[in-house]
Amino acid sequence: AAEKVYRASTTAPVNIAVVKYWGKRDAKLNLPTNSSLSVTLSQSDLRTLTTASCSASYPASEGDSLILNGEAADVAGARTQACFRELRAHRAALEAADPSLPKLSAMPVRLVSENNFPTAAGLASSAAGFAALVRAIADLYELPASPSELSLIARQGSGSACRSLFGGYVAWRMGDAADGSDSLADQVAEASHWPEMRAVVLVVSAAKKGVSSTSGMQQTVATSGLFQERITNVVPRNMEAMEKSIKERDFSAFAQVTMRDSNSFHATCADTYPPIFYMNDVSRAAIRAVEAINTAAGRTVAAYTFDAGPNAVIYYLEKETEAVVGTLYRTLGEIDGWKAATTQSLNSSVSLDEGTA
Ligand code: PMV
Repeated sequence: AAEKVYRASTTAPVNIAVVKYWGKRDAKLNLPTNSSLSVTLSQSDLRTLTTASCSASYPASEGDSLILNGEAADVAGARTQACFRELRAHRAALEAADPSLPKLSAMPVRLVSENNFPTAAGLASSAAGFAALVRAIADLYELPASPSELSLIARQGSGSACRSLFGGYVAWRMGDAADGSDSLADQVAEASHWPEMRAVVLVVSAAKKGVSSTSGMQQTVATSGLFQERITNVVPRNMEAMEKSIKERDFSAFAQVTMRDSNSFHATCADTYPPIFYMNDVSRAAIRAVEAINTAAGRTVAAYTFDAGPNAVIYYLEKETEAVVGTLYRTLGEIDGWKAATTQSLNSSVSLDEGTA
């Protein structure tokens, strides 16, 4: 008999933090040591497209599976398993309450996922990946879950993924419940609140990062004294100033907090023992180029930030495109390392997403 195939597709965008998540207080539940805040990039530029399907005709022996960019990928990891388990439990509860519903929770799930950017580009592909995985299965299961509720599940896949369930400006509130039930994302502002915001991604290296974020965080939490100062004083101050700058559309304040928070995060990495260096000489050349642009403008028109890798993301306002992107390409084009970088750059300019929720 031809069994019905149930199917749902969704996309989720990449987000780049302007107040960084770095440190877990619970590694199993992915509970952070601090709140964080990010900007969601446009779906048309950087996103994951995921289709989830299930059917009684899929052999039970095959279990759940994932094809990522055309190749079979692992779903046995504890993080991925946690997402499947939570989503299935929600579906099973719906089925228990309404016996007329098809028993999708008993069927294997097949996922097919495509990034429209190179997975190894050193960008946070796991954020878009887990956000898309969770929403595709939630849609497949027709779960009546809000983006914040889904963020609780995506967080268990990859911390930063919880912020990719929303467009615009998104906070991940660390919460204080031991079970993680209040460690979720909420939207600070829609992208349309500040339509002039732009970001350019400068790819220094397409290689995978040296120290994984999970391992790096664990080492930093265990050994850095500076980290204690960061989570106690620096981040709470930055979160407050960042939310205010976004609400008031104050680019200069937004930019200064962004750069200082990136510097603070990388300082705790350098204070980790043995030290972790994500930025390299080319990254530091980008910092100097942004400093020169701001000095020449006589105000802060560009902000750099770096995640757990050497690639730079530069935020600026649309009207400053020539002063920022034009100058960056002219300056960095003359520095070794950026010749490759500029040609590999994913997008000369990416606009922000209008909101996916
Ligand atoms: O979500 P993870 O485990 O990939 O960690 C992301 C950590 C940073 O990208 C460095 C910061 C952040 O808030 O996204």
